[in-house]
Amino acid sequence: MPEFIPMISEKEIQEQVKRVGQEISTDYKDKDLVIMGILKGSFIFLADLIREISIDHEIDMMGASSYKGGTSSSGQIVFTKQPDLELKGRDVLLVEDIVDTGRTLRKIIEFTELLNARSVKICTLIDKYERREVKIDVDYACFSLEKGFIVGYGLDYEEKYRNLPAIYDLKL
Ligand code: IMP
Ligand code: MG
Repeated sequence: MPEFIPMISEKEIQEQVKRVGQEISTDYKDKDLVIMGILKGSFIFLADLIREISIDHEIDMMGASSYKGGTSSSGQIVFTKQPDLELKGRDVLLVEDIVDTGRTLRKIIEFTELLNARSVKICTLIDKYERREVKIDVDYACFSLEKGFIVGYGLDYEEKYRNLPAIYDLKL
């Protein structure tokens, strides 16, 4: 049986999501904001984050997946959904669940830039930095974590445990 060690509580998540939502609301006050959730892991974070954002914006989703199960990246990124909105000349904020090696996000950033967005910034629930392989400028992060494999609040292990309301360190 896997063991779930409590790491980040619901209350801590709520506080940080609020802080980041307020920062985004200030920084994008006079911009043309498109919030782009990266499926699937970001969907719970995204839903809470936008309710802490007080300025007008539009929502879109992109799908990218690097895991074929397990706890380490396959290195190959598959696009599973393209954006629906026109991004040209707009200020795109990519919302991820967790940045690990950075490879998934690097591909998504490159793709978004090809669509001629005016600006592309990164917001992540968790910035997990020990295994970073490519340079990523994380503009907004709720939490930083050195290492470990975590689940809950949208984050999965082999597609399970996304429903846990708090974040747990998973010991297999
Ligand atoms: P990267 O390309 O290595 O940065 O991988 C990023 C993706 O890997 C995230 O969007 C997650 O789907 C997944 N991932 C990385 N670390 C974890 C973790 O600790 N728990 C759950 N998923 C993770
Ligand atoms: Mg993901």
